[in-house]
Amino acid sequence: MKKYEKPDYWSIKAKKEGYPARSVYKLQEMDEKFGLFSCASTVAEKPGLFKVLDLGAAPGSWSLYALRQGGKGIFILGVDPAPLSQNYDRGLFGGVRYGFLQGDMTAREIQEAVLAQGPFHLVMSDAAPGTTGNPGIDTLRSLVLAEAALEYADRILLKGGNFVVKVFQGGDTPRLLQGIRERFKTGRSFKPTACRKTSFETYYLGLDKKQPFSRPDHQ
Ligand SMILES: C[S@@+](CC[C@H](N)C(=O)[O-])C[C@H]1O[C@@H](n2cnc3c(N)ncnc32)[C@H](O)[C@@H]1O
Repeated sequence: MKKYEKPDYWSIKAKKEGYPARSVYKLQEMDEKFGLFSCASTVAEKPGLFKVLDLGAAPGSWSLYALRQGGKGIFILGVDPAPLSQNYDRGLFGGVRYGFLQGDMTAREIQEAVLAQGPFHLVMSDAAPGTTGNPGIDTLRSLVLAEAALEYADRILLKGGNFVVKVFQGGDTPRLLQGIRERFKTGRSFKPTACRKTSFETYYLGLDKKQPFSRPDHQ
């Protein structure tokens, strides 16, 4: 086992609490601090399910957290080229409150399939490229995914909805943050405690989207 993969405090806690990955504690901290699942009143007042798009969903900790937070009033659509882990979900991933598209979030057919299921109240992306060890390449690939996530938010997130995206620090990330600030009342970065000290990942948040989503057939 590589040193980096050695189970740490957060990985052990995740397994004990029924999550396949330690990443759940990053989402939990951001939710507790910024109220990701309780978005602005304009959205919350609308009847119906609270819908979440989870980009880079596998092995499934963020989706499980959302399912457990939202009870019967939530629907989550996960997207990932990798399969979900079914070791901890107790049937939740096979239920009516969960949908999964196995594929690349930047692929046209996946984009169309997601758009067909919108609009959403929360778009969250923990998607990360396989790392090469070359910071320039890894940062650029991460930025491509983060920009794709913001485009989803542009197109299918309701007015008042929230957005969270993982990004590797470096490169043109200030431009991404600027793009978030243009679209949301609040745009900021946040590095959760559960991020590995050696990791150069951080998260950008967009809270309370200013404009309705741009799909005319959903206005
Ligand atoms: C850190 S993991 C996500 C962990 C997940 N949030 C959880 O809590 O279980 C990053 C994920 O991004 C996915 N990913 C990488 N490239 C992607 C792409 N082009 N489209 C969608 N997902 C992608 C990877 O397959 C991987 O499962």
